[in-house]
Amino acid sequence: MLVLGIETTCDETGAAVVERPPQGPGRILANVVLSQIEAHAAFGGVVPEIAARAHVEALDLIIAKAMGEAGKTFAELDGVAAAAGPGLIGGVIVGLTTAKAIALVAEKPLIAVNHLEAHALTARLTDATPFPYCLFLASGGHTQIVAVLGVGNYVRLGTTVDDAIGEAFDKVAKLLGLPYPGGPQVEREALTGNPARFSLPRPMLGRPHADFSLSGLKTALRVEADKVAPLSEADVRDLCASFQQSVVEVVADRLRAGLKMFREAYGKPSALVAAGGVAANQAIRKVLHQVAFETGTVLVVPPAALCTDNGVMIAWAGAERLALGLTDTLDAAPHARWPLQDVRGPASEEVVLETAAASDAEASRPAAFEDG
Ligand code: KG4
Ligand code: ZN
Repeated sequence: MLVLGIETTCDETGAAVVERPPQGPGRILANVVLSQIEAHAAFGGVVPEIAARAHVEALDLIIAKAMGEAGKTFAELDGVAAAAGPGLIGGVIVGLTTAKAIALVAEKPLIAVNHLEAHALTARLTDATPFPYCLFLASGGHTQIVAVLGVGNYVRLGTTVDDAIGEAFDKVAKLLGLPYPGGPQVEREALTGNPARFSLPRPMLGRPHADFSLSGLKTALRVEADKVAPLSEADVRDLCASFQQSVVEVVADRLRAGLKMFREAYGKPSALVAAGGVAANQAIRKVLHQVAFETGTVLVVPPAALCTDNGVMIAWAGAERLALGLTDTLDAAPHARWPLQDVRGPASEEVVLETAAASDAEASRPAAFEDG
């Protein structure tokens, strides 16, 4: 099953061609991503109108490049997938409308993919991870712990009550005068900083639910920064390290709570899966390993390039849905808001548990996807 995937929900214009075999992991034939970081950097964040215009200008070429790299024509595709939300509506309209045009002209089925579902299913492309698994999705717009029970069958176990983790990293960076996007900058500064110098809160630590809260932490950091202002380079490094340390401890605690909720409701997950741009952070990766080890859970962290926004995950989610006959009509609507729980699955709603196949999937993990 060969699918073209288009991603335009935020500040990356992505197109990819992915093949889904009847079993096992997927094959990436092409993955083209154009980041708009430079267009937005001067504004310290993504400007929706600039993003939409940049998608319009780049998308046709990016799709042509992806098709060329894959060595395929539209006629050879089995389906055309685009992220139909959630995201910045201008960009979503650009990607979805383009996919509809290709689907119409090439007479291929359209798959309107939920961007969060695409993050959630990426582990099945890289590692053939069987259902059910526990997903930790942490990006600029979302922070959730989700029970992934099947395609279109998602139960949210925890979420942030205020800022997303990536958003908190970005805001902290801005506050400390570091460039956008802030996550990688804060991580770099934290590497050589002292995580014990500033005493910051650990919001939600020890709570029985699996929710997050980040805004108080950010405010506490601002108070500490104000106390020592003007900031030296060492102050910035120590503030970043202290902030990241707090986030890491909170993530570990919330994941322990989420995994406990998962086991109580659905039994042992086949894996703990990480997704979203924040999963590129090495300190967070390390704590994911620790929690997985402690709880005897297999950990699946796709390579960083597949954790941040890309067309591959859209193509793969499209292929997974197409394989189940879940296609969309050409009047499929773009959504600015589209909670994961509202995504529909197969009509029978039968939850297919594939846990028995988990060890096979582990054994067949392709070397190409090993994360260095
Ligand atoms: O998934 P993604 O590429 O886009 C969204 O859907 O939001 O995630 C981007 C977010 C940004 O907030 C960025 O600062 C954060 O992920 N991020 C990081 C790191 N790399 C990206 N946060 C912490 N450490 C990183 N290394
Ligand atoms: Zn994303």
